[in-house]
Amino acid sequence: MEFQTITLERRGRVAVITINRPEKLNALNTQVHTEAIAALDELRDDAEVGCVVITGAGEKAFVAGADISEFAGKTAVTQRAVFQERTLFNSVDQFPKPVIAMINGFALGGGCELALACDIRVASENAKFSQPEINLGIMCGGGGTQRLTRLIGEGRAMEMCLTGDMIDAATAERFGLVNHVWPAEELEEKTMDLAEKIASKAPVALQMTKEAVKFASRSNLDEGLRREIDLFAICFSTEDKEEGVSAFLEKRKPEFKGQ
Ligand code: COA
Repeated sequence: MEFQTITLERRGRVAVITINRPEKLNALNTQVHTEAIAALDELRDDAEVGCVVITGAGEKAFVAGADISEFAGKTAVTQRAVFQERTLFNSVDQFPKPVIAMINGFALGGGCELALACDIRVASENAKFSQPEINLGIMCGGGGTQRLTRLIGEGRAMEMCLTGDMIDAATAERFGLVNHVWPAEELEEKTMDLAEKIASKAPVALQMTKEAVKFASRSNLDEGLRREIDLFAICFSTEDKEEGVSAFLEKRKPEFKGQ
């Protein structure tokens, strides 16, 4: 597929998806959703890709939300139908490989929700976060009330969603909304280091680990522990498990094959 609103780049075992509408602060319109989902489909089946980074083009924004111009004229019925289709948020959430949000500026509304759907969030010092839907007379619809609450707790999520106020990167780090805050000029290099480290691990073990960690906030402890054992056992059926153990015993670096 030819992309017009995103770019897709492979750097070794890391793929970078860049939402590329800087003149609209990378707002998510229908075309961005379609193209980014198509890019993820392509990357899912690419054995050479171990980790995906999602970011926004330009220096100002990661993503400034859903494209508000598309809300005009939408009815309850048509909007519900849009979100009942396969959404970008759920496609990222359910993507079998780790996804890192590299947040280089505004992450507002659907932009914050896109970051929340990713597995790890890292930000530059100038990043800003909010769920401003309330200011438009609506509410979060891309998972904000659910994923934000699970990540930072009910009181903090409630305040963000009820006020629409922006928080800065330092506050986001204190809340646990992002894992790291780095100077803007170091963001890309440090994010790529993190992504490459993850991408170098055994692919099946990465997939099982992502599934197990995500299951923790979607189940009770007993169910979670049972699921973890099942996924752990699957790792024992892989050649990469033999390779990882042998490499440790032979004091060498493992060479994982994704099998
Ligand atoms: N949807 C559609 N267009 C958007 C947008 C969005 N979510 N966010 C920004 N844009 C557009 C602006 O309309 C403007 O387009 P124009 O140049 O054709 O007029 C362009 O991006 C630049 O934005 P601008 O508002 O001029 O930049 P700013 O620095 O003055 O303000 C923000 C930046 C992020 C504070 C402001 O753009 C904003 O509040 N955006 C909406 C955020 C939002 O409510 N998101 C949630 C949607 S549910």
